[in-house]
Amino acid sequence: MKLVVLGGAGSQALYGIRDLINHGSIFDEVIISSRNLEKNKKIVEGLNSPIVKAAQVDVSDENALYELIKDCDVVANCTGPYHILAYKIIETTIKAGKHYIDFCDDIEAFHKIFESDLPKKAQEKGLSMVMGLGASPGFLSVLACSAEQRYFDSLKEAIFYFACDEQEPGGPAVLGHMLECVHNAPYIRNGEKFNEPSFREEWDFDFGEPYGVRKVTRIGHPEVFTFPKYAPGIPNVSVRFSLEPASAYQGFKDLSLAGLTSTHQLNINGNPVSPRDFALAVLIAQKASRPEMTEAELQEFLKGVTACAAAELHGEKDGKGMSYVGRVAGNMAPLTAIPLIIGAEMLAKGEITKKGIMVAEEAIEDADKFVKETVKRIRDDGFGFTVNEELTVKEVY
Ligand SMILES: NC(=O)c1ccc[n+]([C@@H]2O[C@H](COP(=O)([O-])OP(=O)(O)OC[C@H]3O[C@@H](n4cnc5c(N)ncnc54)[C@H](OP(=O)(O)O)[C@@H]3O)[C@@H](O)[C@H]2O)c1
Repeated sequence: MKLVVLGGAGSQALYGIRDLINHGSIFDEVIISSRNLEKNKKIVEGLNSPIVKAAQVDVSDENALYELIKDCDVVANCTGPYHILAYKIIETTIKAGKHYIDFCDDIEAFHKIFESDLPKKAQEKGLSMVMGLGASPGFLSVLACSAEQRYFDSLKEAIFYFACDEQEPGGPAVLGHMLECVHNAPYIRNGEKFNEPSFREEWDFDFGEPYGVRKVTRIGHPEVFTFPKYAPGIPNVSVRFSLEPASAYQGFKDLSLAGLTSTHQLNINGNPVSPRDFALAVLIAQKASRPEMTEAELQEFLKGVTACAAAELHGEKDGKGMSYVGRVAGNMAPLTAIPLIIGAEMLAKGEITKKGIMVAEEAIEDADKFVKETVKRIRDDGFGFTVNEELTVKEVY
């Protein structure tokens, strides 16, 4: 079985490829591809595994992409930003007749793809194509599905939280994506959809050790789109985030409240420049001025907790009010890429039986088994990772 990983040398994807090698896999050929062949070859050399090979492709070159994937079994799309790249990749993957998985965390990409004719085309070809199987959406929303199945008859609210260290590995796409996510933060309240920038409302949320209680605000994230596909009609869904250190959260808050996430073009010395162009250029310059972590420093950094997340559910079971909070603490990159690799293996084994384009919450039928397998593999790979669940039962008179 052959797996092609688009963006396979990216900051997240590599953790999944290492996991695949560590665990032995249904895949006996894994292609790491991106635009930079030299980088991919170096990575393959470092991985030192006979099943991994390097390739070069620019995913915007449809013919080249088709040639690369035409004889594989599963395509894993780990490129970004998804709102720019995902549509064409999925379209070409359907043409090539291959199963597909990604860890898309871009709500705009979900809307664009699900509102197109691509889901129908995938279904007609009998393909299983899974969007959003990363950390969140992905592990966290599947954890919420598992909790829903164990503890609830009906749900009235789902809130997803995440907080990560600003030094977490992340590629150049991430800063631009963050500005978009704080500018457009959709949510569902009492069955109605709203959209407003982040930081206009804030809450305190206890992430548990080590982050403890943090200020959180809503952020534009796909769970507002994906989770209702699993729990249709759920009247309240939102996603809230924070950053470590608190000064990084405050920095995005200052940018947002000053209007610097706007894409409205201004004329500056004859040049069209939006406040967001300016803010992004400043953030990229600031990041570039800080020395990059060496591989040894990165390994040391990842020994600690660098990301926390939680799923909070409210609803009823047997006439009683139920509230659930599942808190997780670990590192973002393995938690993003290992669920994707497990999903790719499930596709190759025919364990994802639904056809068409689906969100992770729809694709993973045995949510509890998936959660347990992910936790085990992250820990087997040597990362610290905890999941703590808390359930409150209230009598309703
Ligand atoms: N669901 C989740 O929980 C979750 C969590 C974290 C991140 N993400 C998302 O995952 C995506 C990747 O994040 P990352 O931190 O791994 O980013 P990254 O380090 O920038 O990796 C992106 C990869 O895509 C490749 N790429 C970009 N444009 C390409 C093109 N036109 N053709 C071929 N390859 C291309 C890049 O290689 P070259 O530049 O060398 O081509 C690189 O290997 C982001 O969109 C991010 O938002 C999701």
